Amino acid sequence: MKTSEIRRRFFDYFVKEGHTLVDSSPLVPGNDPTLLFTNAGMVQFKDVFLGKDKRPYSRAVTSQRCVRAGGKHNDLENVGYTARHHTFFEMLGNFSFGDYFKRDAIRFAWTFLTEELGLPKERLWVTVYHEDDEAADIWINEIGVPADRLSRLIDDNFWMMGDTGPCGPSSEIFYDHGPEVPGGPPGSPDDDLDRYIEIWNLVFMQYDQLDDGTRVPLPNPSIDTGMGLERLAAVLQQVHSNYEIDLFQNLIKAVMAETGCTDVENRSLRVIADHIRSCAFLIVDGVLPSNEGRGYVLRRIMRRAIRHGYKLGKEDTFFHKLVDALVDEMGEAYPELANLQDHVKKVVLLEEEQFARTLDNGMQVLEDGIAALDSNTLPGELIFRLYDTYGFPADLTADVARERNLEIDLEGFEEHMEAQRERARSASKFRMSKDVDLGLDGQTDFLGYDALVAEGEVIALLKGEERVDSLNAGDSGIVILDRTPFYAESGGQVGDHGVMSNNDSEIAVDDCTKLQGHHLHQVRVRNGAVKIGDRLTATVAREERENTMRHHSATHLLHAALREILGEHVQQKGSLVTYDKLRFDFSNLEAVTGEQLRAIENRVNEQILANTPVTTELMDIDSAKAKGAMALFGEKYDSEVRVLTMGKDGFSMELCGGTHVNRTGDIGLLRIVAEGGIASGVRRIEAVAGPYALAAVHQQDDRLAKLSGLFKCAPDQLLDRAQQAQQRTRELEKTVEQLKSKLASSAGSDLAASAQTVNGVKVLAAELEGADAKTLRTTMDQLKDKLQSAVIVLAAVNDGKVQLAAGVTKDQTAKVKAGELVNFVAGQVGGKGGGKPDMAMAGGSEPGKLGEALASVQGWAEDKLA
Ligand code: ALA
Repeated sequence: MKTSEIRRRFFDYFVKEGHTLVDSSPLVPGNDPTLLFTNAGMVQFKDVFLGKDKRPYSRAVTSQRCVRAGGKHNDLENVGYTARHHTFFEMLGNFSFGDYFKRDAIRFAWTFLTEELGLPKERLWVTVYHEDDEAADIWINEIGVPADRLSRLIDDNFWMMGDTGPCGPSSEIFYDHGPEVPGGPPGSPDDDLDRYIEIWNLVFMQYDQLDDGTRVPLPNPSIDTGMGLERLAAVLQQVHSNYEIDLFQNLIKAVMAETGCTDVENRSLRVIADHIRSCAFLIVDGVLPSNEGRGYVLRRIMRRAIRHGYKLGKEDTFFHKLVDALVDEMGEAYPELANLQDHVKKVVLLEEEQFARTLDNGMQVLEDGIAALDSNTLPGELIFRLYDTYGFPADLTADVARERNLEIDLEGFEEHMEAQRERARSASKFRMSKDVDLGLDGQTDFLGYDALVAEGEVIALLKGEERVDSLNAGDSGIVILDRTPFYAESGGQVGDHGVMSNNDSEIAVDDCTKLQGHHLHQVRVRNGAVKIGDRLTATVAREERENTMRHHSATHLLHAALREILGEHVQQKGSLVTYDKLRFDFSNLEAVTGEQLRAIENRVNEQILANTPVTTELMDIDSAKAKGAMALFGEKYDSEVRVLTMGKDGFSMELCGGTHVNRTGDIGLLRIVAEGGIASGVRRIEAVAGPYALAAVHQQDDRLAKLSGLFKCAPDQLLDRAQQAQQRTRELEKTVEQLKSKLASSAGSDLAASAQTVNGVKVLAAELEGADAKTLRTTMDQLKDKLQSAVIVLAAVNDGKVQLAAGVTKDQTAKVKAGELVNFVAGQVGGKGGGKPDMAMAGGSEPGKLGEALASVQGWAEDKLA
């Protein structure tokens, strides 16, 4: 049975049993900062289990794409070494949210396996949590599994998603490959061998594990199950390894074709076939290779695959070519993969090209390091050097070490990494350290969405990182108020500045940041003093703040326009919003064309002109997501979020805590002023809004006006004028060339008079100012004609280089060769040349010696002609 057929039958069976077919969620969990990647089918339902989210169905079925390459469930290192580990796999699962529980979950699983798929009952083995008598009873007394084919286990039968979150006891179903395969049943000492393979995990979700390790019961007992599609396919296709199933066989064939490897058993083939799946789907889900977080996991997997290609002798790029084969296998089940096929290929290729530049050198360094070892452990310093200089992730080096039966000193590597982080920390500028405990309860009440002036009470003062009771005139420090209109830097928007004052004192506020929920006003006390308990009127610099809001709202419109015009792959990678500009970094492989930039700018300005109100709503994160609000991947959001909507028909909807204009028209105008690349696959746009956009337009105007003045024409004639001027310059350059050569050659014929006669032959050595090589040659011909029997050297100096031409009339070439003559002179000015007996050219690099060299020609010629 083909893999795709199994997936379909699973869906059909559970839909028939009243389950709603739900799409696989992306690999990057939408709103779960505790999780690196979606690693199980239940991830998208986490909040439903916790009772924080409601769905219109109480039973669901999915085939969920999963990556286990980081965090609690990490299989990266095992890939290639075992028959059943993958970085990417599909998990088939059926779910009940407070609907059915153990009895039905067990019955569904058993019926599907034994009746729908026809697996022989006597080949199945089950396990339950050691205390779960209820599940054991259902299996033995209701399903009829013999008691001696059921084990009670502890750790293996309690499933947790991560260190926190929903969890519960589980029951697993194993497939017995038969006595000819070594290994014992679950719970026996050799249960990790290949005879009994776990195929389905039924989790009876009952608890939520909290940060402090305690478990609280879930509102409704629920069901979460997971069955590895690839494992099940291996059982049904009666093959031992997952890599032998139809899907992988086709991928492996493609890898063989691309790498030229013909040994089907080669482990590297499996690694590459596995890794292209995780890499491609991670890219589909918005991850780009980078040096941090999810992007770094992607980079590690990619580089591991590329290194295995290299090991198979493939030194040029190949990995990206496998995307096509993957789309053939999985594009139908996952249209998002097929849709982004070209994008995925480009991202992979870029990374391949980037890594190819250092892979070869790095491998050499590693080989040398291994050759020089006097123990069987790779030192941390070497692993660090490979990482730092050659871009080898530590687990890539570990992979090579494992092939050579070497250990690695990971601790030493970590020490080097830490030392480097320390260096980076001390180099970065001083900021209030996150480790400083302010020792304050609660949080600052932020009034600045509506007000720019408000009164607050001083609740804390700091000088440096020390708490103090007062700040005096001349002091710099930090003021914390109970409430403030000052926005504290976050989400890319800079902190406000302004003043604080009361009858006795005046304080300048230069910036405002946030720590532990409190707004830290960075101040200089200008007059008087400020002490705890004082009431101060805090006034935000209005004009700057209004311009900052213009740029912030414009950033949202720009983000939406970028996605509309460049595509949904565009994701925010960074942003800066200040009063005088905005900067927006986003994922996109190519430079944005001039035409696209214009379309983007137009789209934003259309929204500005529509002058629709900007609305803010507070809601829980799931409703926000359900409404389609854009959230940043990996950003930690509170359970209640602020959703900003602006533009016609909800053009832009984003989660945002920043301050914004009231209506889009308040932005005034947007001008994009720059676009460029800042890292591979990441572009940056800079733009200005409001008065700054107008200023940018004026600046252009001024430039045009100046140019018009220079060209003495109206601005609309400038283009013609500039083209005419260019044309004229070209013509003039040509004329100058011609004149120069004319001048030089007439100077040349004047020279004829200065030739000396030696034995009836004219000898001439002279410098022709301003001549180029061509002029030297033509003047030479003219002189030869005129003098009839002659030995001539002509020289010119251009740009600090000497040009020489030597000519000998035909009647004298028996005695004097032009080549000899030119080299006699060239030798004295640091050069060399050659040519025919009657004409030779040479260059030289020491013009200072030219006069003397030319003077020596007379004597030389006398000798030759004697
Ligand atoms: N969530 C369970 C697992 O991943 C089904 O095994």
